[in-house]
Amino acid sequence: MVRLFLTLSPAISRFNLYPGISILARNNNSLRLQKHHKLKTKTPTFSLISPSSSPNFQRTRFYSTETRISSLPYSENPNFDDNLVVLGIETSCDDTAAAVVRGNGEILSQVISSQAELLVQYGGVAPKQAEEAHSRVIDKVVQDALDKANLTEKDLSAVAVTIGPGLSLCLRVGVRKARRVAGNFSLPIVGVHHMEAHALVARLVEQELSFPFMALLISGGHNLLVLAHKLGQYTQLGTTVDDAIGEAFDKTAKWLGLDMHRSGGPAVEELALEGDAKSVKFNVPMKYHKDCNFSYAGLKTQVRLAIEAKEIDAKCPVSSATNEDRRNRADIAASFQRVAVLHLEEKCERAIDWALELEPSIKHMVISGGVASNKYVRLRLNNIVENKNLKLVCPPPSLCTDNGVMVAWTGLEHFRVGRYDPPPPATEPEDYVYDLRPRWPLGEEYAKGRSEARSMRTARIHPSLTSIIRADSLQQQTQT
Ligand code: KG4
Ligand code: ZN
Repeated sequence: MVRLFLTLSPAISRFNLYPGISILARNNNSLRLQKHHKLKTKTPTFSLISPSSSPNFQRTRFYSTETRISSLPYSENPNFDDNLVVLGIETSCDDTAAAVVRGNGEILSQVISSQAELLVQYGGVAPKQAEEAHSRVIDKVVQDALDKANLTEKDLSAVAVTIGPGLSLCLRVGVRKARRVAGNFSLPIVGVHHMEAHALVARLVEQELSFPFMALLISGGHNLLVLAHKLGQYTQLGTTVDDAIGEAFDKTAKWLGLDMHRSGGPAVEELALEGDAKSVKFNVPMKYHKDCNFSYAGLKTQVRLAIEAKEIDAKCPVSSATNEDRRNRADIAASFQRVAVLHLEEKCERAIDWALELEPSIKHMVISGGVASNKYVRLRLNNIVENKNLKLVCPPPSLCTDNGVMVAWTGLEHFRVGRYDPPPPATEPEDYVYDLRPRWPLGEEYAKGRSEARSMRTARIHPSLTSIIRADSLQQQTQT
């Protein structure tokens, strides 16, 4: 039987067929597996530890952790090979992240360099500056991840890297690095979808989480409700028609004069604790749209108008505000958070009903992405999910915000089923054109969920991950 593999990375066009190469990659793997048997084995701990609760894990400008999440979810499944070890690299936005993860879910290392100063200086992510910052630290971040895992490149089974969606300039830095490592050490390479990685990392932390499941993915650039049928196959039930919730948190923080060093979300969440969440009347967006789509642009405007009405000066940091000014800011933060999350609640309720019609066996709902680290979000959505008799799976905050673990893990999931590219050449010209996918849908849009309010910008959108993978399996069937 001729085996054909889909390629997710730049060296090969998406639908090319490379049976010979796949065999080569397999042989490489078996060699690597033998090497892994010789690796010093680390004593696994069986409690689930959130890296954020570790004393080693501080969100300073440059931080790392060796804390292991040792849920070992797949150790009894022969398809999940404990000896696989994958390096994951993430540079799609403003965090430069790398991690090494073992096939059984053990996190051997996790390193992140964040661009806090730039975020404060520009009040958001400036692509060119972000690219330069990634380029400055990428080598060190990857080296630290390997060192903390006590491994060298030779011990790896594959390299996984985010190829989209995200900022092209930033994605390029990670992809270039990943291809250098893979090329120099003859390693297969797996191109990863950033939003799929946010969803699948939940399978690393929750052993019971199997397909099909639902996911709400909430970050700075995305607001997605998806139904995950199986690995690589997703139906998009809802998305945002304009801004994502994380963007609304970030702008609210900026306009309220909050400290943006940890991004806006955590600052709003903290100040909201002091405020009265019902004091400022904001309208819940898209209340009368009977779909699962989101909109946060209007809520942003409502917040801006409330801030203007209270004559809050963003240039005056909240730490220097008078008591009354501080209370006004806290009331706006709390009222904004309440309504922003109510919008999530309403759409999630409907999306769960739709998903159960399509896949009645669903047992879990995943909530992930940076905004899912918010305690209020978790609490409110847990109520919704439990009322629908589902179980909420929410990764620890350090795995909700952008990280290398989710990329390594998603790389592992695809690698196991044969979706990877062969090692790139050891040297590639500086001007090599990488296949980056800045706009890359995760799944096909559910017809019932199509919103008229949604602008249909189609320029330079890649086919969705789902349609690419479907096309690949069809080709495999016709060739066997
Ligand atoms: O997933 P992520 O790290 O990066 C993107 O893919 O965008 O998400 C970043 C977003 C930012 O908008 C940030 O403000 C938001 O997640 N965020 C939060 C919290 N922590 C991060 N939003 C609300 N509450 C939080 N605790
Ligand atoms: Zn993200």
